[in-house]
This record gives sequence, structure tokens and C-alpha cells, in this order.
Amino acid sequence: MNTEIVRVHAPAEGEAFTTAEDAALKRAGEILQKGGLVAFPTETVYGLGGDALNPTSSQKIYAAKNRPSDNPLIIHICSLEDLKEITTDLSPKAKQIAAAFWPGPLTMILNKSDRVPKETTGGLETVAVRFPSDRTAQKLIRYSGGFVAAPSANLSGKPSPTSAKYVAEDMNGRIDMIIDGGDCQIGLESTIVDCTVDPPAILRPGYVTEEMLEKAICGKVDADVTMMTAGTGQAPKAPGMKYRHYAPKGELVIVEGKPEKVLSYINEQTSLQHAAGEITGVIGTKELLSGYSADSVKCIGGRGEEESIARNLYNILREFDDENVTKIYSESFDANGLGQAIMNRLLKAAGHKIITAEERKE
Ligand code: TXA
Ligand code: MG
Repeated sequence: MNTEIVRVHAPAEGEAFTTAEDAALKRAGEILQKGGLVAFPTETVYGLGGDALNPTSSQKIYAAKNRPSDNPLIIHICSLEDLKEITTDLSPKAKQIAAAFWPGPLTMILNKSDRVPKETTGGLETVAVRFPSDRTAQKLIRYSGGFVAAPSANLSGKPSPTSAKYVAEDMNGRIDMIIDGGDCQIGLESTIVDCTVDPPAILRPGYVTEEMLEKAICGKVDADVTMMTAGTGQAPKAPGMKYRHYAPKGELVIVEGKPEKVLSYINEQTSLQHAAGEITGVIGTKELLSGYSADSVKCIGGRGEEESIARNLYNILREFDDENVTKIYSESFDANGLGQAIMNRLLKAAGHKIITAEERKE
């Protein structure tokens, strides 16, 4: 299959798409309506879209990603009105969450209507729904008829793509079109909140944090512990969280502890590994960066600059793959607020290998 790549710049607030871009999105919408697949930018990560109400499209998505078909897809909508087509009931809390965070980087799990095929929900009676804020995504969804099933546009097991380059690397020849909208603003997947239970439960942390949700509903939300302790054998509620995820090809280890100890531990390890013939990489913060001596040293942002850390993480993991780095060490980050989503993804990428520098040094 020949994969067409088209560039579409989301215009600034109040401005319009160019005629050519509008025509490209219309054509992309027609591809989706006919059962084809189109990858597109969102504010979180790139999505691999198909018509959510067409069972064959959903099957094609699973095949293109090499994804197990019991791992359900998120349906993307472009208007609140359309929600009632695909869900049955909306609790007052779900309404508050939608009002506070949509359009935006948040996915709600709701009870599905009969219009949603089981192929899209991996056999579940519930459906994941997101109304993204990205204007290119919104326009594509509108042109496609309103319901786009889209997982992240990576091959199963690889880090989610935050630029079209990495979508093409995984999806070239497997889908009809890639819409290149530049780099994603947030860089980590949406927060998933199960609104079929009370209190609502966070199944995957993201840009919208526990604190933000609790403020919006003036009440408690459950932050599902299996998210932070995956690998303990407990079954996560979001089926996707049980699979190996976000992983670079090289082995990744997270090193926590006092900055100077982290720096010396990582340098000691990378020089040993380098001598043993490994290609070494470091994910470091601005503050420590000049002190590292690995083969490839990547700056993820300043310590505490969480938005930058979130935006750069997946790109850095992909760059290490491009450079065939075999041993990667990363600094550890605060797990509060957005840091919770960052550490959730980093821990998964590392297969939960985390070392405290102090302990090992003494
Ligand atoms: O930011 C995002 O959410 C991106 C963009 C493209 O919107 N999408 C994304 O989709 O990350 P995906 O398929 O990579 O992750 C969706 C997660 C999976 O872990 C899946 O198991 C879970 O959502 N999920 C989907 N439907 C569900 C349901 N009905 N109940 C529980 N979990 C569900
Ligand atoms: Mg994914």
C-alpha cells in the first residue's frame, strides 16, 4: 500500500485552514468513510484513525498496529452533541468532567450504545471517548462523519509517536495517509477516567491530573494504583496497560537519588558498559547535562519543567532507537502532578527497573 503524506498546519485561533489544507482534510475524511486508515496529529500524540462505527475499520487498525484485538480503541468526537450517539447515559460527574476538560487531553470510559461495534471496544460494553482540542484532528473527525477510532499511531509496544516522522517509520505502507501536523504539544497520551464507577477512577495518568479532576467535580477520584505498580500481577482496568509499552529497543534503567550521586553512578555505569562494547545513552536534565560522558546524552528539559519533560520523553526514546543505543540511563523525576504521568510512562519503558544511586554506591 502506498502511504500518502500531507502537511497540514493547524491555524492560529481565529484563523482558517488554507484551501489546500481543507481539501486534504476533506479527502482524508473520505478515506475514513470508505473504511481506510489515516494517521493524524492530536495535542497528545498522533492517532491512527479509522471509522469507529465500522467493524472492518477497527479490525484494520489492529492489523496495522500488530495490536491484540482485546485492547479497545478510543473514539474521537468533535462535538459534545455526538456523545449521545455512542453512549447510553451520562452521570452528573461525567458531565462536569466533559465541561471542564473537553475539548482536551482527557478520555472518559462510558457505557456504550448499540451503535458502537464490539470490534471497536474489544468486546467490552463500555467505550472510551475523547474530544481532542487539536483543530486538525477536529476538522478531520467532522469530515469523516464524526466518530474516529484511534489508538496511538505506533506499532504495538513502541513509544507513541509525537511527530509525523515516527508515524511514518512505523506505519509507512500499512495505512492510506499520514497527516503531518508537526510536533504534538503535550507528548504523552490522554488521561483516562472511568466514569462508569463512582467515584470516577483514573486508569491512565496524563496531562489532566488527579488534583485537576477533583477540583472539577468537587469530590474524590480514585487514582488506580495498578497504574504505578504494573508488573505486580494485578490486572489493570484499562486492558492496554497490561501490554509492554512505550519501550525503546535498548535496556532502560532509571536512577534516583541525590543529583551528584545520580551523576556519578550513571557515569560509572556508562563507562563500564561502553568498555564492554555497548552503545550508551543518558536522559538527563539541563542542570546535570554537561557532567555526563555517555555516547549519546539527551536533554529532556530543566528539573521541574514538567511540560518539557513530557513533550520530549517519547521523542528521545525514539532517537535512541535511531542511534542503536543499547544501554540507557535516565534521571528520575518527581511523581506529583504531571510528573505522575511522566513517571508512569518512564517506569513502563524501563520495565520498572529503578535503582537508588546512594544504595549502590556505599
Ligand atoms: O492521547 C490519547 O489517548 C491517544 C490519542 C491518539 O488520542 N490515544 C491513545 O490510544 O493513547 P491507545 O489505544 O494507545 O490507548 C488507549 C487505552 C488503552 O490502554 C486501552 O486499553 C484503554 O485506553 N481503553 C480503551 N477503551 C477502554 C474501555 N472501554 N475500558 C477501559 N480501558 C479502555
Ligand atoms: Mg498506545
